[in-house]
Amino acid sequence: MQIGVVTLFPELVCDALAHGVLGRALERGLAAVQTEDPRAHAGDAHRTVDDRPYGGGPGMVGTPAPWAAAIDAAASRLPAGVPRLHLSAQGAPLTQQRVQELAGLPGFLLVASRYEGLDQRVIDSRIDGEISIGDYVLSGGEFAALVVIDAVVRLLPGALGDERSSVEESFAAGRLDWPHYTRPVEWEGRSVPTVLQGGNHAAIRHWRLAQSVTRTWVRRPDLIVQGGLSSEESRLLNEFLARREVDDNG
Ligand code: ADE
Repeated sequence: MQIGVVTLFPELVCDALAHGVLGRALERGLAAVQTEDPRAHAGDAHRTVDDRPYGGGPGMVGTPAPWAAAIDAAASRLPAGVPRLHLSAQGAPLTQQRVQELAGLPGFLLVASRYEGLDQRVIDSRIDGEISIGDYVLSGGEFAALVVIDAVVRLLPGALGDERSSVEESFAAGRLDWPHYTRPVEWEGRSVPTVLQGGNHAAIRHWRLAQSVTRTWVRRPDLIVQGGLSSEESRLLNEFLARREVDDNG
């Protein structure tokens, strides 16, 4: 997979990609990330890449020519036709489904703007879609681009040690994850739930599913409204609610 990032802070992006699962996946060639700096495409001595907004108001707007040139240069090094995506609080909220769609592509280009954003004509002429990572405003798109890259690259075959990790995890099924425990079995007077200590796989599966659906119902009912409940899930939820074993520390 070939990923391009247009950014005024290429080092920030590259440094953040050097660690953990992501760093190993890139090292092993599962994906490659290239950056392109609009400043390298600025035509003046001051390397100007922003200007005051027409109509007045606070902040600065990305100047069309250097940003468009950087997008064109980055896109020319990626597989033909891959989507060019602008990170923006005005974009479509990032979901695990969108992440899975991106993970199936040969690549994509992320445009991380700064200031009040990009001149709308660059968006209209160069951008295929806009992605938001949440309902809050960042000072730039770099961290949002890194969020997209992390979420996508960890899904690539071979990126995680155990392939089941990404298949079984919560959001893949539209559910929050169940609680996890490791040794020691007793810690600060708190025990690992008894069912997890035994080898009854059916009972463990049942407990995990019940935890997952109950947590989702309490913390993120919107996910259940969207996807509905299977009959097994609805039975487990009713059982747990009746016993008030709801963990709502969210
Ligand atoms: N740039 C500024 N805010 C953002 C957000 N919430 N998501 C993605 N990119 C952004």
